[in-house]
Amino acid sequence: MAQLPGGTMSRRLVLVTGGSGGIGKATALGLARLGARVSIVGRDLRRTEAAADEIRAAGQRRVNVFVADLSSLAQVRRLADEVLQRLPRIDVLVNNVGGYWNTRHVTADGLERTFALNHLAPFLLTNLLLDRLTESAPARVVTVSSQAQAGGRIDFDDLQGVRDYSGARAYSQSKLANLLFTYELARTLPDASVTANAVHPGVVNTSFGAEDPGSVQRLLVPFLRPFMKKPASGATTSIQVASAPDLERVTGRYFDNGKPRRSAENSYDEAAAIRLWQVSADLVGLTSPVQPS
Ligand SMILES: NC(=O)c1ccc[n+]([C@@H]2O[C@H](COP(=O)([O-])OP(=O)(O)OC[C@H]3O[C@@H](n4cnc5c(N)ncnc54)[C@H](OP(=O)(O)O)[C@@H]3O)[C@@H](O)[C@H]2O)c1
Repeated sequence: MAQLPGGTMSRRLVLVTGGSGGIGKATALGLARLGARVSIVGRDLRRTEAAADEIRAAGQRRVNVFVADLSSLAQVRRLADEVLQRLPRIDVLVNNVGGYWNTRHVTADGLERTFALNHLAPFLLTNLLLDRLTESAPARVVTVSSQAQAGGRIDFDDLQGVRDYSGARAYSQSKLANLLFTYELARTLPDASVTANAVHPGVVNTSFGAEDPGSVQRLLVPFLRPFMKKPASGATTSIQVASAPDLERVTGRYFDNGKPRRSAENSYDEAAAIRLWQVSADLVGLTSPVQPS
């Protein structure tokens, strides 16, 4: 990591959630290589410190570690408070955290875990950090969605799979929610001094889905692993959207394989985006959310 001081991200402060492993750790490492001062969020102190040590060993000595279980709304709020105390600026927020569960799990708040971790956590964290991002402008919010958004549907009558849960449906819904949130955020910040974009990292060999795997993960994924992208390769689009100078004013886009790409038709449904924003604000108890457009 020899080029640190002169890198394109020199002196930029970047916060990456899910930074203790997988695509998030590789994203943090890649941005540190471009000179950014990275802060990573993980749920386990030992794993998060180990990831920070790897980034430090690659040459970036100043890596901040934050620990929070982002499936808990109280811990998202505590994390935001700590971030606001410790980081004078946030130039880039990478909402990378996410997961897949084959069976329905319920969080400490009584919420379905996929919806809570994949959608509500980035929704709440971004809202709580938005003033700091705005003060730091030009700033960027990058949210890691997935091509699974293409099969997603927001089931407003059963958002949390109480009546009928399927891991694949919950995951696709949450990744579509990432896009509806990103596009609505971009519409609320029209001068693009803070941009909001989403990415698909590709199919990447990580610990994704390992906590509660379905039959596809158990039976098929082991054979597919050799053909999957390595985390460093899966992180390239996140790194690009977080750092490329020519994307400084580009907002409200979905990137796949380094290129802007049209997402599923229902991801552009503005009425659904506003409805989801309002339902989400109610669920997380956001009293003064950014007003949807
Ligand atoms: N892998 C793929 O093929 C793929 C494809 C499309 C999209 N994505 C998206 O890419 C993102 C990253 O996935 P990944 O493949 O890198 O998964 P991963 O290897 O499972 O890594 C997930 C990261 O999030 C952390 N995390 C998990 N639950 C958490 C919680 N409750 N609170 C705080 N941190 C938590 C993990 O911490 P620990 O180290 O403690 O586990 C880890 O750092 C996700 O949003 C996923 O939906 C992945």
